[in-house]
Amino acid sequence: MFSVKKHTSLLFKLLIFCSSASISTISQAKEGVWIPATIKTQEKHMKELGLEIPIEKLYNESGTGLNNAVVLFGRGCTGELISSKGLVLTNHHCGYGSVQGLGNLQRDYFATGFFAKNQQEEVPCPGLTVTFVRRMENVTEKVLPGISDTMRDAERDSIISKRIAGIEREYEIKTGYDAQIKPYFEGNQYWVAITETFKDIRLVAFPPNGIGTFGGDDENWSWPRHTGDFSLFRVYADKDNKPAAYDANNKPYNPNQFFNINIKGYKEGDFTMVYGFPGTTNEYISSFELNQVYGISDPVSIAARTPRLAVWTKHMSADRDIFQKYTSKRAGVANGWKKWQGELEGLEANHAVDKKKEFERQFQEWADKNNETPYYKTILPQLDAATKEVDNLLLQEQHIKEDVLGIELIQQGAALDRFEACFRGNFTDAELSDTLKKLTTNMNWFYKNYDAATDKDVFKKLMPIYMKKCKPWLPAYYTAEYHRFHKRTKKWARYVYENSLMTTQDKLMAFAAKATKADSNSIINDPSWQLYSNVAAIRKQNLTSKIEAFRANKHYLNRLYIKGRMDRERDKVFYPNANLTLRIAYGNVRGLDPDGPAKYSWHTTIDDMIAAGDEKVDWFKVPPYLKELYQKRDFGRWAVNDTLSLAFIADNHTTGGNSGSPVLNSRGELIGTNFDRAYEGTMSDYLFDPNRCRNITLDIRYTLFVIEKFGGAGWLIDEMNIIK
Ligand code: ARG
Ligand code: GLU
Repeated sequence: MFSVKKHTSLLFKLLIFCSSASISTISQAKEGVWIPATIKTQEKHMKELGLEIPIEKLYNESGTGLNNAVVLFGRGCTGELISSKGLVLTNHHCGYGSVQGLGNLQRDYFATGFFAKNQQEEVPCPGLTVTFVRRMENVTEKVLPGISDTMRDAERDSIISKRIAGIEREYEIKTGYDAQIKPYFEGNQYWVAITETFKDIRLVAFPPNGIGTFGGDDENWSWPRHTGDFSLFRVYADKDNKPAAYDANNKPYNPNQFFNINIKGYKEGDFTMVYGFPGTTNEYISSFELNQVYGISDPVSIAARTPRLAVWTKHMSADRDIFQKYTSKRAGVANGWKKWQGELEGLEANHAVDKKKEFERQFQEWADKNNETPYYKTILPQLDAATKEVDNLLLQEQHIKEDVLGIELIQQGAALDRFEACFRGNFTDAELSDTLKKLTTNMNWFYKNYDAATDKDVFKKLMPIYMKKCKPWLPAYYTAEYHRFHKRTKKWARYVYENSLMTTQDKLMAFAAKATKADSNSIINDPSWQLYSNVAAIRKQNLTSKIEAFRANKHYLNRLYIKGRMDRERDKVFYPNANLTLRIAYGNVRGLDPDGPAKYSWHTTIDDMIAAGDEKVDWFKVPPYLKELYQKRDFGRWAVNDTLSLAFIADNHTTGGNSGSPVLNSRGELIGTNFDRAYEGTMSDYLFDPNRCRNITLDIRYTLFVIEKFGGAGWLIDEMNIIK
């Protein structure tokens, strides 16, 4: 099995081991990403743990619930409203992609940061949106009538999707808002979300990377942490306070709810909540599928990304231009890479597969005796057989995705497919050339952030992995080329990058400008197109339809499986897997303490950050002005005991998408912004263990200090409602 070095101390292992007997009871305690509209089911427990406000304050349908202060930020993060003028707080890494689009070598916001001095200076972010959830309703009864549990998915989906479209329309007409219906519990329930999406979003504050990504990938997914992972945006609305496209005359949006900020601090044991949009969890997964995560998808992806990241890093540190091109891409690729390593370790240390197996044994025992619903008996055996059947297909697919399509030139070979189609169209030469030129211009987004020399080095590393690991299943073209270059991938790479039209946009444009119908061979002979289309053909012939059929079957079986589980434990309140809809998690501030209190205590301070600083390592360079403030201990009103709290951990159940989520105290006041999980517990997407799983929160006082003292943007603090 793939293994990575990262210590898990003996003591920690013992702790985990000793507590495993009681894990199921504890994990029932805090595990869960709850639908706000059902949060009342958790009221008793939340009050026991410390909740002090009426549960209705968290969510209600009269517009006064705190749900109105939480937004889906962009397409995969969370943000929170913190002023009556539409100020939105989220993570630095959630704003990163938008900010990359605003800057260039002269205006390098990653190096200098950005702090607007007034509203006029705020920068529009084209394409960025924020979405509010006004209300949620269970519409299962409207979606599912007349549909039997065992109806296969294809038939079921075609009926359901029509119904959903109709019901969404009804809600839109009735409410004047947008409406989206999504499946929950793998399709045993359906909920509608009534939403409002704003499109004029402007950048307000963005600390330099020396603060916002401090610690970089070394600290990513780990605790202790010193990253000032925040950024600030503002929502603009039209004169009626309604969503509108960007317009210079738009006004700051006046939300009906925003969070009060509490700067009194917190201590270990204090109650916390995380309110946001968790993306995907798979808590009810069977041992069979978990085995595929564990044995196929995680290790194959990690093995491909390690060399890809090493190549990118080398080129990025040699050239600032390449740094700017690759920084956002790199962060995304590195993020999964490290999470999966933590996941593998956590699954192993937790004996996750064995635990699921034991659970399945109990389920089967129950199902065998259950005569009311005979099909429960066959679910697990079917899942077992179905997963085994596709192991080899999934392995190939994963290698293609990570090794072959990890090479950008091959991935972009798809674009040449569109070129090729034009040659077959009924165009005059002039029309043909025009169309090709347009297609080339459409690829600005790609070329803007592409460097062929870097990519060529990636080719040299990734191609040998694919050739070796997928030997029995290679496309003939790959084998032929490999042998033509005597298995020397370096030579092969040189040939590909010297001969492809795709390596620069200029080259492609020059081709487009002169292209006539006689030139179609140039596309067909292009190595980028050859590499792409041959691997696409293999997928089409051998993989895609079988894998899709497996997924559909698995989805069907899992829907019945979760239904069976709910039938089996009628008294238990289940929460649905995360699906990028609004949820609440709750827990307590709690250290992660394998090695003693200092290292794994429950919070870090600016002193720890300065101590971690290192001038020689990019990710650990402390910005000079921050150092100056530190030396003067000029922390303003945000200090306690002459230091600044920076980050803390708690045992809230969170996942990707919860980035930027408001972290609240027992009174529903903002104490920080969620931005990560600890390495030890990233397996919580499959198995939540409160002894290992920790969400990481940036302390709001550090954020306010950076805005006011470092960024000189105290005018923003005046907008906020601060509780001292
Ligand atoms: N791990 C965090 C999340 O899943 C932060 C990612 C951004 N930071 C980074 N160094 N890549 O999104
Ligand atoms: N950084 C993650 C995000 O972007 C949150 C951490 C997690 O996965 O828990 O959503």
